[in-house]
Amino acid sequence: FASSPAPIIEDDSSFSKDPSVLKLKFKERLEQERQNALLGGGLKRIERQHAKGSLSARERLELLFDDGTFHELDQLKAHRCHEFGMEQQKYPGDGIVTGYGKVNGRFVYAFSQDFTVLGGSLSATHAQKMVKIMEMAKRVGAPVIGLNDSGGARIQEGVDSLGGYADVFQANVDASGVIPQISVIMGPCAGGAVYSPAMTDFIFMVESTSYMFVTGPEVVKTVTNEDVTKEDLGGSKVHVSKSGVAHGDFENDVAALRAMRRLLDFLPSSNDKSTLPVKEVTDPGDRLVPQVARLVPDDPNTAYDMKDVIRQLVDNGDVFEIMPDMAQNIVTGFARFEGHTVGVIGNNPLTLAGCLDINASNKAARFVRFCDAFNIPLVTFVDVPGFLPGTEQEFGGIIRHGAKLLFAYAEASVPKVTVITRKAYGGAYDVMASKHLRADCNYAWPGAEIAVMGAKGAVNILYGGKGRNVDEDIAEYTDRFANPMVAAQRGFVDDIIDPQDTRKIICNDLKILRTKKMPEIPKKHSNIPL
Ligand code: HXC
Repeated sequence: FASSPAPIIEDDSSFSKDPSVLKLKFKERLEQERQNALLGGGLKRIERQHAKGSLSARERLELLFDDGTFHELDQLKAHRCHEFGMEQQKYPGDGIVTGYGKVNGRFVYAFSQDFTVLGGSLSATHAQKMVKIMEMAKRVGAPVIGLNDSGGARIQEGVDSLGGYADVFQANVDASGVIPQISVIMGPCAGGAVYSPAMTDFIFMVESTSYMFVTGPEVVKTVTNEDVTKEDLGGSKVHVSKSGVAHGDFENDVAALRAMRRLLDFLPSSNDKSTLPVKEVTDPGDRLVPQVARLVPDDPNTAYDMKDVIRQLVDNGDVFEIMPDMAQNIVTGFARFEGHTVGVIGNNPLTLAGCLDINASNKAARFVRFCDAFNIPLVTFVDVPGFLPGTEQEFGGIIRHGAKLLFAYAEASVPKVTVITRKAYGGAYDVMASKHLRADCNYAWPGAEIAVMGAKGAVNILYGGKGRNVDEDIAEYTDRFANPMVAAQRGFVDDIIDPQDTRKIICNDLKILRTKKMPEIPKKHSNIPL
């Protein structure tokens, strides 16, 4: 090689013009096929998408990716079904556009189902295209984002289509914990088809035009005699605020895709630590935040919004909230300290006094596990009066669900920094990333109350109404327990800190914790309570 210099090719374009290499006739056919692929189900059907307020599959990808970076794969791949006149219904690409491109300069794989082609229905071929990009994304370590708009299994393909779905499910599971997987539901998603998004890390929906259900309104009517609309059964509002299936919803396709670009900016490309993103810092790590102390009322029974506290502390007040409409007694979201992504979790006294309940436990547990799988440090703000009492909670299995959050925090080996802003009572004190669950750095603000329960309840149980003087007893208990001194004396909090120093301290801790290592005992996997 060293002695033979590469030949100089003067006219690069001569290659494709050479009829012996690429026959002109074939070139025309190829171009025609490409044109057909770009048109999907045709202009009329694209107009129908627009009339619904939706974009076409390709328009969506254009918005998702940085300009001109999308590289399509399998544009010409076609189905091989001969049933029900399907030979006459061949569309190059087979109802799904797949490939990769850049989002804010970083590689991301994506598929976009094309509703204009046979309702975006999933054939064996369509599934193979999905699996191919998932496999590629896993190999190179890049996220996969799926834009779902499909009538489900392609009826003409029968079991081939069902098999295709199962192949996709398996690929989802194989990729779980290796690369971030995000689903955006932008049209119908029904039947077994819902289970591919359900196995991804995040599901987002578009208001009014998307829906998800296992069985549609007609089947519901036949089986249970309930009358319910598509929207009330599986529209975005149901899934972001009732079922907890979806992690957020957006007004339209454009807003959803813009939000995905913002979310991807916070996420690593894979579970390889080196892919954690670092944004250029514009907010100094040693910024004092005197205003946070004023946000927390002195009266322990007065509510405040933990989101205000979080916004003051993180870089530029920028938080991408996950599940903002579900279990609002706990806040979860991505933010940054000195340009490095963290997962923020905070009890929110504004709803249910910040109690932990079934939904809050599930919401936060899944978020903690995502962060842990992808090396994202956890910063927890605690103001929790305990678990929510009541038969509804007990019958619903709060023991099992609360255990998920406890388990998730205990298992997480990423850097864990915890700040108790006010109450940390009972079992919830232990659960919320306490020192005992191997949190790395724990702090309390001076007004924190760390105890088994509030003063009134405690005095009642301690003295059963036979105390000397209830007010005196409460004062004594408050003096002894309703402050962070004992926890600090035990080393359960590393320090009692001035609230205005909180950002500075968190930034310092996260810096030293970047090299944290936790030895692991080999095991197949743990058995988190489900
Ligand atoms: C083949 C389909 C299709 C499907 C829609 N189309 N769904 N073709 N297989 N599953 C076609 C239609 O025939 C139509 O073709 C075009 O897509 C647009 O559909 P319309 O019905 O005109 O659109 P719209 O009125 O908006 O209704 C959308 C819809 C409806 C609600 C999704 O099409 C529908 O109910 N489809 C069937 C849904 C279904 O039962 N899927 C199977 C689910 S079970 P033309 O040529 O007229 O444009 C499942 C199992 C997965 O998915 C199992 C995994 C384990």
